[in-house]
Amino acid sequence: MRVTVVGLGYVGLVTAAGLAEAGHEVVGLEADPARISALGAGRMPFHEPGLGQLVERHVASGQFLITDAPDKASLGAQAVVVAVGTHDGNDGWQTATMRAALGQILPHIPDDGVLVIRSTVPVDFVRELPELVRSLRVRHGRGPIPILTNPEFTREGTAVADFLAPSRVVIGIVDDPSGRGERVVRRLYAGIPAPILVMTAADAALAKIGSNLFLATKISFANELALLCETHGASVEQVVSAIGLDPRIGSAFLRPGVGFGGSCLPHQVTSVVREAEAVGLGLPLLEAVDTVNDRQRVLFVDRIEERLDGLDGARVALLGLSFKPGTDDVRAAPALEIARLLIERGAEVVGYDPMERARQQAVEAVPGLRTVDDAYRAVTDADAIGLVTEWPEFGDLDWSRVATLVRRAVVVDGRNALQPEVLAAEGFHYTGFGRLAVERSLATIVEPRPAAAGPLDGHAVTGAPAPA
Ligand code: UDX
Repeated sequence: MRVTVVGLGYVGLVTAAGLAEAGHEVVGLEADPARISALGAGRMPFHEPGLGQLVERHVASGQFLITDAPDKASLGAQAVVVAVGTHDGNDGWQTATMRAALGQILPHIPDDGVLVIRSTVPVDFVRELPELVRSLRVRHGRGPIPILTNPEFTREGTAVADFLAPSRVVIGIVDDPSGRGERVVRRLYAGIPAPILVMTAADAALAKIGSNLFLATKISFANELALLCETHGASVEQVVSAIGLDPRIGSAFLRPGVGFGGSCLPHQVTSVVREAEAVGLGLPLLEAVDTVNDRQRVLFVDRIEERLDGLDGARVALLGLSFKPGTDDVRAAPALEIARLLIERGAEVVGYDPMERARQQAVEAVPGLRTVDDAYRAVTDADAIGLVTEWPEFGDLDWSRVATLVRRAVVVDGRNALQPEVLAAEGFHYTGFGRLAVERSLATIVEPRPAAAGPLDGHAVTGAPAPA
């Protein structure tokens, strides 16, 4: 089948490459000329495991074409899938990009084509779609076309696998009187093994948003549970291992720490709460999910401050800047808020992330943050190490070497990703979330050590100098 994908960002590029992999002829319509030439040269605009190979292979075979011309892009298209951004950058929605994309593409979609909205859109916008599409089509002398939604449930870091083997495919019907649109979308996924659910577009929009709200709720619940465990001297991992075996609950998304980040969970919790407030609807549970998540960042910084007896003049190494491992995305990443708070309280913050783009973007987002290109450089002369993103390489660090580099042997683990026993054996004072029982049994006295090396002399450093 011939498919056009409008917008080659996180969602669109995975969708386009995934559909090509599923055997369709795909044309990507992208407005940014720099992105088009980068993709043509095999350079990905962001890190997503497996995506580069897929794009390269299908571009080389001609099965995936990329253009900036809407007329060429939609020539002979049986389905046009729109995947442009809908966040306003301030925890709300914007539909201007979507409206502009529709204005560009709708005049060119053949009368036997189908419009599919892949972006996450506010439910109100779904209601406006039939009239918006109809008027644009009429203005250009075009006939009516079916309109459907097909929300994505892919996670960054595993997006390719999630696209090719999804837990479900949801089709939302906006306007499809003959059922032709549904048949076309079903054919899009013909080679992909997954249950297909067909529902109204409002149901589909809420299925997408509701999934993320529930995941966020689980995480905030785990964060409260961790505090409860600390109060009672219990160990959160043990507690979750037992809770999670209940098939009604499951153990996924019950890892406590610095809380959730990324482009979806924080945005959707905050925007839903805000919209509900605007119409006088109270959603106290989701408000609390948001509050708990914000508090986790503060708690993490408090824990470092307590261990150091104050942050003024202290150097803190932050390990991990992306919002989770497997991505270089720092949107709503806990590390950014944590770095801001630490700097505000007088600390000098040196960040490291394996992804260069994450380091660059973090430096741009947080005034005063410096980054280095190696974890050992980040910890050199640190008074405390804060682990924010559980990249596997941090677990594999040579902690006895790290112990010789730091000024004070303090680790606060914001993801419960490190092994407290290993760190304690190297003389570190370890603090996690909900692991107090283990920490107490391993506690060591923290003695300030003399600096082992010059303050980052000779190391690659990016970012503004820390405030004096
Ligand atoms: C999410 C949804 O999972 C996906 O279905 C949707 O399509 C897009 O939004 P993503 O934003 O890529 O995906 O990340 P996800 O894996 O959901 O993690 C979100 C955040 O929660 C991360 O910051 C992660 O570190 C955090 N998290 C996750 C926890 O703090 N604890 C957990 O137990 C699990």
